[in-house]
Amino acid sequence: MKGFSTRAIHAGQEPDPTTGAVIVPIHASSTFAQDGVGGLRSGYEYSRSANPTRTALQECLAALEGGAHGFAFGSGMGASDVLLRVLVKPGDHIVIPHDAYGGTFRLVDKVLTQWGVTYSTVDLADIDALRAALRPQTRVIWCETPTNPLLGIADIAALAEVKGAARLVVDNTFASPYLQQPLALGADVVLHSTTKYVGGHSDVVGGALVLDDDGLAEQIRFTQNSVGSVPGPFDAWLTLRGAKTLAVRMERHSDNAEQVAQALAAHPAVSTVLYPGLPDHPGHAIAARQMRRFGGMVSFTVKAGKEAALKVCAGTELFTLAESLGGVESLIEHPGEMTHASVAGSALEVPDSLVRLSVGIEDAADLVEDLTHALDAVR
Ligand SMILES: Cc1ncc(COP(=O)(O)O)c(C=O)c1O
Repeated sequence: MKGFSTRAIHAGQEPDPTTGAVIVPIHASSTFAQDGVGGLRSGYEYSRSANPTRTALQECLAALEGGAHGFAFGSGMGASDVLLRVLVKPGDHIVIPHDAYGGTFRLVDKVLTQWGVTYSTVDLADIDALRAALRPQTRVIWCETPTNPLLGIADIAALAEVKGAARLVVDNTFASPYLQQPLALGADVVLHSTTKYVGGHSDVVGGALVLDDDGLAEQIRFTQNSVGSVPGPFDAWLTLRGAKTLAVRMERHSDNAEQVAQALAAHPAVSTVLYPGLPDHPGHAIAARQMRRFGGMVSFTVKAGKEAALKVCAGTELFTLAESLGGVESLIEHPGEMTHASVAGSALEVPDSLVRLSVGIEDAADLVEDLTHALDAVR
């Protein structure tokens, strides 16, 4: 198999056979001419079912995760929705992480439960707790690692060993396929919000699923086409363009986040730094084993509490106050009031002194100076 960056730049992306264009064209066509009824010229018929720009992205994503089948969606939640429609039926049970992404929790808690699906929240770092939560009706173990926003680490290979008949789904959004390859560790399906690191430039919303199982892939293809949860060709093209530079960006994100995490750990206004690259992080050893590096996401709690945390979020200049993550520019946010407001009052509620950073690829010294300045104001 070719190296990661070679696959990112070439998989699914042969020069265009008609014009020789080196870059996959944006096939902005909803429909495709047929040579006689049922005589498809190139296998394409209608862009909800398939579109050549989307196919290129899907082949690239499958190659990056080392899976047989890739599917691109209009958003990460669109990917989660289609996958769960396929995997669970009324009466089934799902295990989700006790600190799952808020949108995933909302989908399970507010939408799936209406259809008779039950769920348990489990700390997936605790394999005994997972074993205790499994039931004969458990169809899915939904894992995020690292988690959003607490940067918890789960041991994917250990989860695969205890999953029994349930499918292990790994949301690999925080790590990206460059840092972590869940299928090789025993996961059944990998999910991405490609809005984040794969796209990488905060200019497109998208999602992806990658898997090996042919039967499951056929069900996903059927369901995606049935519900219409597809990206347009321009969005697919932007995501594919982002994917080409994923490896170099992730190296730089990881370099910068390591420096930011160390600076935060040394600052008197900070009580805890959550970054799997720090040796005292409880998941450090597992992360070091299953990830290439530790990624660009860092969370921390502010000693003086919620008001001080909000002040820090409003006090940076380079870190823009905004939701989302994984772009080249650094972002800061308050999960309790922003990305994770939907889990308030639930078992997944996050500390109100928590601040989450998406560390970008600017110059690390400037990022550290910006944060230090904002933190000095609340010490
Ligand atoms: C870990 C994780 N999974 C899934 C999603 C949902 O993706 P999207 O916003 O592209 O629908 C997000 C979005 O923030 C996320 O952070």
